[in-house]
Amino acid sequence: MTFPVHRPRRLRRSEALRGLVRETRLSAQGLVYPMFACPGTKVRTEVSSMPGVFQQSVDQIVEECREVADLGVPAVLLFGLPEHKDETGSEAAAAHGAVQRAIEAIRKAKLNLLVVTDVCLCEYTSHGHCGVVKDGEVLNDPSLALLAEAALSHARAGADIVAPSDMMDGRVAAIRQKLDQKGFADVAILSYAAKYCSAFYGPFREAAESAPQFGDRRGYQMDPANAREALREVALDLEEGADIIMVKPALPYLDVIQRVRERFDVPVAAYNVSAEFSMVKAAAQKGWIDEQRIVLEIMTSIQRAGASIILTYHAKDVARWLKAC
Ligand code: PBG
Repeated sequence: MTFPVHRPRRLRRSEALRGLVRETRLSAQGLVYPMFACPGTKVRTEVSSMPGVFQQSVDQIVEECREVADLGVPAVLLFGLPEHKDETGSEAAAAHGAVQRAIEAIRKAKLNLLVVTDVCLCEYTSHGHCGVVKDGEVLNDPSLALLAEAALSHARAGADIVAPSDMMDGRVAAIRQKLDQKGFADVAILSYAAKYCSAFYGPFREAAESAPQFGDRRGYQMDPANAREALREVALDLEEGADIIMVKPALPYLDVIQRVRERFDVPVAAYNVSAEFSMVKAAAQKGWIDEQRIVLEIMTSIQRAGASIILTYHAKDVARWLKAC
């Protein structure tokens, strides 16, 4: 028996009813706000393809972090720009690097904020690749020690969570081992487990000045055509000791988020990446879309697919809008 006994519209008649039966409830508690730390003081340079996103020196980062914390966003993700780039990205692990100093400054300011750090070499290497390069090849195993050193330098500075994004095989194990050895067993690892080789990172590479100077990242990041392989990547990272696993990008990979959520009982994060953000911003600036409704719908869809943690450049706006409604 269907109609007229069954009428799904009964539960859509008022906001109170809709709220009562809502399956996905957005909250600022699952948001992480990405930020870009650069050398210098009083530097605040807007990224042209990402309105409202800045490369900032440590003093400015702390100010924005205060705002982030006040809005009820619980965490920031820090990326760093070095003073100098070199072949091995040596500044990635420098105690005086922009990220390391930003972590210390946020800690010193006693902000109620979790600090997550991106662990990768691409912002720090002269060739822009995420690992060590020899004869035009990105070498896997020699990159692991450098990534582990970078993660250790973040832990030493006071990071709560380190997030390797390089996609070298074995990097989670290398980082876990190094952190444990040096007394940082409590620092968690959020691994970019299923990270696709995506055109959606375009604007980020302007923000982080990390575009590869030759070739591309297809030899280490995942093929966008593969979903089953993502489950294998996630399984491997969990075996190696990842605490939280991430799918990236988010919107074009909702199916992957859902499959990962169904298969694994660990916290699942999704990265709503730079071009996902820039496309919305550009259309909103042209007056073609309702930015608030579009963004909240995107956030809802990512969470509905199965991600309980969302890394997004919209985090501050989302927190503001959620407070208002
Ligand atoms: C570093 C890294 C990238 C992003 C996060 N970490 C870029 C890349 O892999 O080229 C992309 C984030 C974004 O687009 O917002 N490897």
